Amino acid sequence: MPDFQTWANAHQHRFEDVLRRLLPQPDTLPQRLHAAMRYSVLEGGKRVRPLLAFAAGELVDADIARVDIAAAAVELIHAYSLVHDDMPCMDNDVLRRGKPTCHVEYDEATALLVGDSLQSLAFQLLADQQLSDNPVRQLEMVKLLAVASGSRGMAGGQAIDLGSVGKQLSLPELESMHIHKTGALIRAAVQLGAQCGAALGEAQLNRLDHFGKCVGLAFQVVDDVLDSEADTATLGKTAGKDAEQDKPTYVTLLGVQAARKMAAELHRDALDALSGFGADARRLRELADFIVLRKF
Ligand code: IPE
Ligand code: IPE
Ligand code: MG
Ligand code: MG
Ligand code: MG
Repeated sequence: MPDFQTWANAHQHRFEDVLRRLLPQPDTLPQRLHAAMRYSVLEGGKRVRPLLAFAAGELVDADIARVDIAAAAVELIHAYSLVHDDMPCMDNDVLRRGKPTCHVEYDEATALLVGDSLQSLAFQLLADQQLSDNPVRQLEMVKLLAVASGSRGMAGGQAIDLGSVGKQLSLPELESMHIHKTGALIRAAVQLGAQCGAALGEAQLNRLDHFGKCVGLAFQVVDDVLDSEADTATLGKTAGKDAEQDKPTYVTLLGVQAARKMAAELHRDALDALSGFGADARRLRELADFIVLRKF
């Protein structure tokens, strides 16, 4: 059994080829938009959401070719959210994944269209390829990603984030913002990976979903901590942005120590949720460790 890093590297490497194949080729019209889409998705990022989908897929013996499509759909939505998050009308960032942001490398209108097009492509993939033997289950997968991405998921969380600049949120308000802007898509990644394989019982599905909720929130708590503690070169994005833009975060509300403690508690909850699963959940456990202990 390969160690976690070897397992993750192998999937990341293979998945890069999957994305290269699924994205529009750079020599097809409109070439500049397609080049910008590939620029924003390829060669960068930790691929945490795809890895969660692969790990959940392993739990249910899913066909890897199916999980690849589900993972790609989630990663395309995520990449779109980053392109828009970095635009001047949102966080106004110039660095992403160690490269100039999409609107800096191209232009704002192109960045807008890159986001639009990546989102459409994600749903095209889910509709285009067989992901489940049961068509009703596959339709549920499409709906799941739609809800996680939209105004009751990621986009809604981003709206709360932008509306909170300069304000002090209560802890429940901050938690709700994070659960939506970041947690929803991470939770969807776990669920979609699991939906590609043998059906789990309701109790097991609920436990897996609780795991996804915990690591999804923990992911953004750690993102807040890293924004305040890590440096730009390590992150591949501008450090210190949250303080600079007066965003409420777990660090501003609780301080770094308590934010880290909160991430550790969510980590424990996530692992507890998997306690009824056996060795097949190993990669999910290791991903929870990575999400909380990561340095970038
Ligand atoms: C950054 O996500 C944005 C958040 C939701 C916190 P990641 O830290 O997963 O970014 P990449 O994909 O590795 O670049
Ligand atoms: C972004 O949160 C969440 C989404 C992109 C949906 P942040 O604004 O904190 O992400 P970074 O720090 O720019 O990656
Ligand atoms: Mg933001
Ligand atoms: Mg940002
Ligand atoms: Mg951040």
